[in-house]
Amino acid sequence: MSAALPGQSTIAVWGGETGHEAYEHSTQVPVVHSVSFGYPDLDSWHAVALERAPGHIYSRISNPTVRAFEEKIRDLEAAQAATGFSSGMAAISATLFTFLRPGNRMVSIKDSYGGTNKLFTEFLPSFGIEVALCDTSDFAGIEAEIAAGCRLLYLETPTNPTVKVVDIARLANAAHAIGALVAVDNTFATPINQNPLSLGADLVLHSATKYLGGHADALGGAACGSQALIRKLQHFREINGAALAPMDAYSLLRGMKTLALRIERQNDSAMTIARWLQGQPCVEQVNYPGLETHRHHDVARRQMRGFGGVLSFSVHGGLEAIRVFLPRLRFAHRAANLGCVETVVGPPSVTSHVECTAEERAAAGIPEGLVRYSTGIENVTDLIADLEQALAAIA
Ligand SMILES: Cc1ncc(COP(=O)(O)O)c(C=O)c1O
Repeated sequence: MSAALPGQSTIAVWGGETGHEAYEHSTQVPVVHSVSFGYPDLDSWHAVALERAPGHIYSRISNPTVRAFEEKIRDLEAAQAATGFSSGMAAISATLFTFLRPGNRMVSIKDSYGGTNKLFTEFLPSFGIEVALCDTSDFAGIEAEIAAGCRLLYLETPTNPTVKVVDIARLANAAHAIGALVAVDNTFATPINQNPLSLGADLVLHSATKYLGGHADALGGAACGSQALIRKLQHFREINGAALAPMDAYSLLRGMKTLALRIERQNDSAMTIARWLQGQPCVEQVNYPGLETHRHHDVARRQMRGFGGVLSFSVHGGLEAIRVFLPRLRFAHRAANLGCVETVVGPPSVTSHVECTAEERAAAGIPEGLVRYSTGIENVTDLIADLEQALAAIA
């Protein structure tokens, strides 16, 4: 019998799904809404409460359906442990507030997701934590900031919405050289395209709301890493209270079974669309790490197995041209989301960076005329025909 590890598609289907006491032999993980779990005698209750026996006590701490979600993402990220959260932002803020203390300094990039950026600029400084935000593409500059003092290096790659790629292995090396922790938001890549832990990260974070769930019908987040780190995060989550709801965990689990299939299709379609957009005269610039013209295409090829489903592009005529072109798209939701089975489009000024001023967006290198395009699983020929008829209005 082969001792080979299962592939990602097999893990996406079976991870977390076996070894449970399935209710009445059900083949699917049951949705356990119960808040508390009862025990016939004090000794068995006490043993579970002290974690000397398996089981659950109270759903803010752990829950059978949420546990299955945690095991699936843990296996997909090839981590020792994982813990779920009520949203991606809950996972991110728990990480920052668990591992940083007043007087610490952390290093990150200017291009992180708008909500994450708000934590860096608005909340952490008021707790006495210094945040150094670096030019995302200047790896030597990031190394210099790490060397100047760093408790936590926080990365996101590819970035939202300009799809820049950050060299995880290189920067993790620099951070570990001075004993810093490394956390990576892997929402855009997903574990199908990239496993940051294998590149040297200590923690991987996800907005499960996006690709993991894939159907835009459940909010959730996750953190994956060593037993010791995840235990600390789990403890913060227990007390902070941002627990993942069992029904959302179930929806995410169901979506994750098709994760590999969806990502393979979305990788292919995004690549085809990016190349097609490059040939359109009304298109100013196309950002996609799979393009040879992308500044960090080589890094992307080294650390990613696929380049992802998100691309962004700017059109001549800026925001006014977008006002004309976006409403004409038939096969796209104009919405503040990404990573689902339907194509989703939107300018960063009303999606990822709605919280920022025009000046802050400009400082982050985000033109007002940029469109983020999250490729769905539709036929790519239909998506291109749709883009063609919509762009004709501004050509
Ligand atoms: C890269 C990235 N990280 C984190 C988040 C936050 O996730 P959530 O909306 O689940 O809190 C988002 C949301 O768009 C995101 O794009």
